[in-house]
Amino acid sequence: MAMTNYDRIEGRHEPSWRVVVDALPDPAIMIDATGVILHHNPQLADLYPRARPGLSISAIIRIPELLQAIDQARDAEQPMVVQLHDRVPVTRRLSAIISAIATDEPRAGTPAILITFRDMTDQEKHAKMRADFIANASHELRTPLASLKVIVETLQGPASNDTAARERFLAMMTTQTSRMTRLIDDLLSLQRAEMKAHLPPRDRVDICELLDWVNQSLEPLAHANGAELTLVRPEPVEVWVRGEREELAQVFLNLVQNGIKYGGNPGKIDISINVLPEAAGRPTRVAISVADNGEGIPSEHIPRLTERFYRVNVVASREKGGTGLGLAIVKYIVSRHRGELSIDSTIGAGSIFTVTLPVVSWAQKDHAAGN
Ligand SMILES: Nc1ncnc2c1ncn2[C@@H]1O[C@H](COP(=O)(O)OP(=O)(O)OP(=O)(O)O)[C@@H](O)[C@H]1O
Ligand SMILES: [Mg+2]
Repeated sequence: MAMTNYDRIEGRHEPSWRVVVDALPDPAIMIDATGVILHHNPQLADLYPRARPGLSISAIIRIPELLQAIDQARDAEQPMVVQLHDRVPVTRRLSAIISAIATDEPRAGTPAILITFRDMTDQEKHAKMRADFIANASHELRTPLASLKVIVETLQGPASNDTAARERFLAMMTTQTSRMTRLIDDLLSLQRAEMKAHLPPRDRVDICELLDWVNQSLEPLAHANGAELTLVRPEPVEVWVRGEREELAQVFLNLVQNGIKYGGNPGKIDISINVLPEAAGRPTRVAISVADNGEGIPSEHIPRLTERFYRVNVVASREKGGTGLGLAIVKYIVSRHRGELSIDSTIGAGSIFTVTLPVVSWAQKDHAAGN
């Protein structure tokens, strides 16, 4: 008859403590009073692949703080928690909880001490990212707030009777408040995009129609900046992807706006749509490229552009009203749409940002293709 968990817990076949060690979600190891390993759960093998029953714990984990804590734990009433900084095989931060098992007579071969581990490396990295994010966001808000304060003080004092100065200062206040509004909008978009990153979109969007719209919407901005915006829209005329229109619009608006902001002078921004037909087991995809004639991006910056608040030149970006959140939002939205973002840049020639998305169906002008 097969052994049930009940039998195990009752101790008919296996000591029940082994079942408990195996059921623990974190890496766990049981040693006897002499420090010999009696049992460990499968998760421990990821942390300490050399651990085996019968070996001494000190042969596996050579961290003096931990070994010292094990010695002390024997007489401790409460479990002991030790923070470990492991450097071998990789740098990681572990938290170990050492609990003594109450036994009347500690003997070799009898469970005496349970050690469980928690890998804090990721948690600490996330905590640091969160702290950096809050510091950056507050700094970005503090800058316009500080200038608003100066303007208000000037209006209350030296400029209180100067009508011309007042007009100028009011215009400056409008610029600063728009900047703050934009930052808050971007922060909210980022949060929304991040929260939805794991939910596949349900609607369908025609990429060609969407980019027509983006092109038309940004034409006035391009014109005002003396830039030329061109959309190269090939056959087929309809390319449907699974997606959320508003999110995809945000992606291409940001890429084209970046082209206008960081492109050459006069700027030339080319948007192109290319259907990449099914090949070598890869389904049909559509590649949308936004190319500019700017000064290009040094290669060491490229992998970091999608980090929140990352800007190649903070002052230049800020002058153009940028907060450095645009590409972070793009990254989340593209990944939610099962797409890819690639960035190519040549110093002195310009940059090309390409978004590739899986195609649901596409149709040519005269006849339908794909499905
Ligand atoms: N086409 C481009 N050419 C050169 N540099 C670019 C280009 N697009 C982006 N960058 C660089 O990448 C940085 C991040 O871009 P991102 O869109 O995230 O921020 P932003 O445009 O500065 O601000 P926001 O998008 O929030 O208005 C920019 O500050 C700029 O340094
Ligand atoms: Mg941008």
